[in-house]
Amino acid sequence: MDKIIVFDTTLRDGEQSAGAALNAEEKLEIAKQLDRLGVDVIEAGFPSSSRGDFDAVHLIAREVSRPIICALAYAQPKAVDAAWEAIKEARYPRIHVFLSSSDIHLFYQLRKNREEIIDIAKNMVARAKGYTEDVEFSPMDATRTEPSFLYQVLEAAIKAGATTVNIPDTVGYAIPKEFCSLIDGIFDNVPNIHHAVVSAHCHNDLGLAVANSLAVLDRGVRQIECTINGIGERAGNAALEEIVMALGTRRDLFNYTTDIDFTQISKTSRLVSECTGMPVQPNKAIVGANAFRHESGIHQNGILKERTTYEIIDPESIGLAGTTLTLGKLSGRHAFKSRLRDLGYTLSEEELSRTFATFKELADKKRDITDRDLEVLVAEELRAVSETYHLEQVQVSCGDPGIPTATIKLVGPEGQILADAALGTGPVDAVYKAIDRIIGVPNTLTEFSVKSITGGIDAIGEVTIRIESEGKTYVGRGASTDIVVASAKAYMNALNRVLATKGEVNR
Ligand code: KIV
Ligand code: ZN
Repeated sequence: MDKIIVFDTTLRDGEQSAGAALNAEEKLEIAKQLDRLGVDVIEAGFPSSSRGDFDAVHLIAREVSRPIICALAYAQPKAVDAAWEAIKEARYPRIHVFLSSSDIHLFYQLRKNREEIIDIAKNMVARAKGYTEDVEFSPMDATRTEPSFLYQVLEAAIKAGATTVNIPDTVGYAIPKEFCSLIDGIFDNVPNIHHAVVSAHCHNDLGLAVANSLAVLDRGVRQIECTINGIGERAGNAALEEIVMALGTRRDLFNYTTDIDFTQISKTSRLVSECTGMPVQPNKAIVGANAFRHESGIHQNGILKERTTYEIIDPESIGLAGTTLTLGKLSGRHAFKSRLRDLGYTLSEEELSRTFATFKELADKKRDITDRDLEVLVAEELRAVSETYHLEQVQVSCGDPGIPTATIKLVGPEGQILADAALGTGPVDAVYKAIDRIIGVPNTLTEFSVKSITGGIDAIGEVTIRIESEGKTYVGRGASTDIVVASAKAYMNALNRVLATKGEVNR
């Protein structure tokens, strides 16, 4: 069986989804989970694009040592140098250089001719090679590039030292038959192609990203670039979970293996959805809430008799064993720490103390605390790490008749206590207005959603919001058994992100 290299680009192409910006702590948390999932390559970001992304890639390169850590770079000297600076401490570093090759990009965007493109590709791959052995090259918009020119670019890149050549269907235009012919053409016409791994990178504009990625395996492609939940530019990228589960479920057709631990799929999907604030559509294959729900009587009847009558995948195999009852009010710090470790979290002593204190508060309000609840508590702790303003107290009065009123107390950047109050059309509006009176960051709330993490009246509610400030979208999340408090936390989280971004810009 041939091994397929799983190249995860959730933290780079996935993060390019509108409004999905992640901070360094969240990126690191996701990278650690991708490590547990067993991906071979983590494309951690695009260091030359912003100081924040540089720092996040640098952090991941230092902290995550098993997989290859890859940094993306424009085919420009400064970008290649920044990519190297960010990943040079990685155990297995890779630089990924990209450059458009289609006439439409050359003419309208780059304003360069084909000879210039070949020269730049050669020089920038060679520059990256001066830093590391492991260099990937992508001719952007490959599927709309004239094949004979594509062959020349690939040959030049491999000659200059590229060890992986990636074929991006940048605009999601290809269909499987056509994509297979393109790959066949590459193997037949690029003389040195056997010196590199050939990779596929498919976008989902026509809903064909996974189909295109799987189709070309039989034509010699050995690396697939994909993202968790299929997030990415526009309609997204090929979904990792769909690819690996297709390979795992249809072993009769695909003679390929991956190193993915399927039992980590569900948790990884949830983490990415929570950090990016991008909900997974209920009917999404593998990880959607309805993917293993059977509604019609005849299906339910079949499942009760024999699961395989209507299920091609055992939900337990992707880590959906049901919520395990774990801890309660009387559990001690040791049991708490050990359960977190089993779930894959290693917190510092300080983080552990704070999370344990919130766990005890929660245990006073909620009888059974599940693994899902613990995941939320850890996420709350990680969010708190990068705060400029911290929510100390929130108090509302509302009703009908009544005038919704909120009083807010915050701790400011210098540890000062800041308090104010406001009226609103409802309790959340009043809370947001009171916070605005203290922080004063101009913004518009564009989305607001609440969901309960587990079942039951005492469940934790998680609020996800989006705000727009100076033309940029920011996600905010907050969780609490009280949804007004969760709403306040979500707003503070979004505002802290705005402030962190501004700080970065002003640096
Ligand atoms: O879609 C694309 O072409 C890309 C490249 C940077 C590989 O994401
Ligand atoms: Zn892409």
